[in-house]
Amino acid sequence: MADRDGVLAGKVVMITGASSGIGATAARVFSAEGASVVLMARREGLLDELAHEITAADGTALAVAGDVTSARDVRRVVDAAVDACGRLDGAFNNAGSGSPRTPLHLTDDAEYDRVFDVNVRGVWNCLREQIPAMISSAGGGAVVNSSSTAGLVSHHLPGAPYIAAKHAVIGLTKAAADQYGDRGVRVNALAIGATRTELLQTALDRYEGLEDRLAAESMVRRIAEPYEVARAAAWLLGDGSSFITGATVPVDGGVTAL
Ligand SMILES: NC(=O)c1ccc[n+]([C@@H]2O[C@H](COP(=O)([O-])OP(=O)(O)OC[C@H]3O[C@@H](n4cnc5c(N)ncnc54)[C@H](O)[C@@H]3O)[C@@H](O)[C@H]2O)c1
Repeated sequence: MADRDGVLAGKVVMITGASSGIGATAARVFSAEGASVVLMARREGLLDELAHEITAADGTALAVAGDVTSARDVRRVVDAAVDACGRLDGAFNNAGSGSPRTPLHLTDDAEYDRVFDVNVRGVWNCLREQIPAMISSAGGGAVVNSSSTAGLVSHHLPGAPYIAAKHAVIGLTKAAADQYGDRGVRVNALAIGATRTELLQTALDRYEGLEDRLAAESMVRRIAEPYEVARAAAWLLGDGSSFITGATVPVDGGVTAL
């Protein structure tokens, strides 16, 4: 049930990578907090199912399939959001893809390009389309980009392209926050720690004992559930964080503070 007094009440928020994991959970959490959600990912069937689920729970959801590595696809989703809802107030640029920890000198260019395309060009494409749309349709807005603890420090799990790409997401976040703060747009990033999703499951399946090891690295001795990341994103997209911009907020159970 959408909360008319929720932290995102009345806002139109676009979510990329909404077909699974943190993005799908964010769609449910943002809707429950009062937002109309515009869902983007490549898997149309999953997006449609999620939009139906949200609509059936009295929320408002629009599903538009597309690939964040395509500027044209991203433009189509932003245009659809403004056409259908009249405005764009927020965006959770969350689509991303991991890379296995192959030694750097054995990682080929194709893997580097693939990882940078989704994680960095995807956010780049989104910022370029969303920010002007927010300014013209809503007089400003808020963006949250999904980075990682691997965007702040090196980490034993992912490969070098992912670590470099997630550092780049934080750079883009700071540059965009700096350039559009005077026009009412805030841009922040989440440094997400190990979270129970499809993306992490691939690694948990590959390495025995990994979940225990990841849990032991955190101050709270466990990995995150997707809703814990989604709730942090909702707060950064809402007016309660009105003086926070250009920031990278760790949602990592204290891993990067140790
Ligand atoms: N799960 C973790 O432990 C963890 C840790 C740190 C950071 N992150 C980041 O959180 C974000 C969400 O990851 P998740 O764990 O929910 O993973 P996930 O694999 O469950 O979800 C990723 C989503 O992105 C979508 N996606 C991938 N490539 C896309 C593309 N080119 N265009 C459109 N959509 C695309 C997928 O379809 C999926 O919906 C990612 O940016 C990831 O790097 C996750």
